[in-house]
Parts: sequence; structure tokens; C-alpha cells
Amino acid sequence: MGHGGNIIEELKVDHREVEAMFDKINALPLGDPRRREVADEFTIELVRHSVAEEMYLYPAVRERVAGGEAMADKELEDHSTVEGLLKKLEGMDVKRSEFDTLVAGIITEVTGHVADEENRLFPALAAACTPAQLDELGEKIRSAKDRAPTRPHPAAPSTPPMNKILAPGAGLVDRARDMLSGRGRS
Ligand SMILES: [Fe+2]
Repeated sequence: MGHGGNIIEELKVDHREVEAMFDKINALPLGDPRRREVADEFTIELVRHSVAEEMYLYPAVRERVAGGEAMADKELEDHSTVEGLLKKLEGMDVKRSEFDTLVAGIITEVTGHVADEENRLFPALAAACTPAQLDELGEKIRSAKDRAPTRPHPAAPSTPPMNKILAPGAGLVDRARDMLSGRGRS
């Protein structure tokens, strides 16, 4: 779901939403099955956000920002670290202590990544683009993200395409990414 505004405003709202999901999971007792639901929720949101950034933010940074290649490479590396952790988490029993260790690791990684983007990458992009260019990128990001619903809700799995993403079994990260990026679409 789009929030309106330019690419930086749009992505910052995503960041705040993910942080709210982290607060939500941290507020639940360890082993509580609702932690699994929140984990699935932030997994889909993080994949959705990552795909949108990879499609439009990093190419723009590479093209317009001096030193943008190195910045974009670093952010992509962060994404693949987080995605590796999310993949481990998707098959993990909520009752196991590894579940909690993975959640803590994901929160640390994502929090660092968000701070880096907001403090370094976004200001550099803002300085290198006109307001109209930032607005246009915001539109593109919104349409990329709109390819999948934001929040898997207990009521949602009966409705396609969320039922496909949340079908039982491992592979949530890959299924969400395929759906959003159009990868493997025939
Ligand atoms: Fe981001």
C-alpha cells in the first residue's frame, strides 16, 4: 500500500512500519505463537520493501550519486544478509530458542541498515535529484510494492494472492520475492 510522497518519504514510512512490527514481536512473550504471525508479517514487508528498493532506489543511486555504486553494493549486501536470516526464520519453530536469536539478529541488521539509508543514502540521493525526479521514483516504488498486499492478516490467506504466499511450508521469502519481482512468472 502506498503512502504518497516522494521516494524518500515513502521508504521512511515503510521503515517506521517495520519498526512497529519489531516492537510488536518484542512485546509478545517468548514462544507465543503470535510471534510466528508477526514474523511472517515482517518477512513479507521486508521482502516487499527490499524488492522495491532494488528495482528503483539502488539503480537511481548508482546513476545519480557520486560514489553511488559502492553505496548501492553495500545496501544490497545488507539485504542479502537479512534475507538469509529471514529464510532461516521461516522454517523455525517459534518454541525454539533459535527463533528468538534469529529475530534479534534480524532486528539488529535491519535497524543498522535503516539508519545507514536514512543518514547517508537518502540525503545523498536528495541532493542529486530534483524534487520532480524524487516524486517520480516515489510513484514507481509504490507501484512495485502494490503487487502484493502489505499485511498478512489471519483473515487474508483465503484471498489470493496472499493464500499463495502463506501456503504452509518453507519458502515464504522466495515466494514473496517471486510474486513481487515477477521472477518465475510465466
Ligand atoms: Fe529501506
